[in-house]
Amino acid sequence: MQDQELIKKAFEARQRAYVPYSHFSVGAALETDDGQIFLGCNIENASYTPTVCAERTAFFKAVSEGHRSFRQIAIVGGYSKNEKRKEQTEVEMELDSFAPPCGVCRQVMAEFCDPESFRIILARSLQDYQSYTLKELLPLNFGPKDL
Ligand code: THU
Repeated sequence: MQDQELIKKAFEARQRAYVPYSHFSVGAALETDDGQIFLGCNIENASYTPTVCAERTAFFKAVSEGHRSFRQIAIVGGYSKNEKRKEQTEVEMELDSFAPPCGVCRQVMAEFCDPESFRIILARSLQDYQSYTLKELLPLNFGPKDL
C-alpha cells in the first residue's frame, strides 16, 4: 500500500484511541506481507499499567488472526492544536509532532519482523512523514534468533 494511504488509515485508527488519562491519542496501521491491513489504537486503563499501545494492539490483532509476516506500519500520535477546539468533528490529520514507538513495541516488532526490511513510518500529517527500518530504531536486537 502507498505510504499516504497507510498513514490515512493510521489517522482513522487514532480516532478510536481510549485515552481518558493521558489524552495522547495514537493510531497505527500495520500491513502484512500479503497486503492486509490491521488497525490499532492505544487503550488506557484506570489502573494505568494495563494500558496498551496502538502498535501492539495492531500486532496482536494481526497475530491472533494468523498473520506473522509484516511489511510496514504507519504510526500517528500525539496532540493537535485543532483538537483543542471543541467543534472538531472530522478525522484529525495534522498533529504537533511525531510519535516514535516505545521500546516495548519495538521489541514486539522484533519478534515478527525482518529488521532490515520492515518499515516504520512516523507521520505528523499526510505530507509530513519519515520512515525508518526496524534495525535503525532497534539496533542489536534480542530476538527469536538468539534463543
Ligand atoms: N503510546 C502508544 O500508543 N504508542 C507508543 O509507542 C508510545 C505510547 C500510548 C500509551 C499511552 O496511552 C499514551 O501513548 C501516553 O504514553
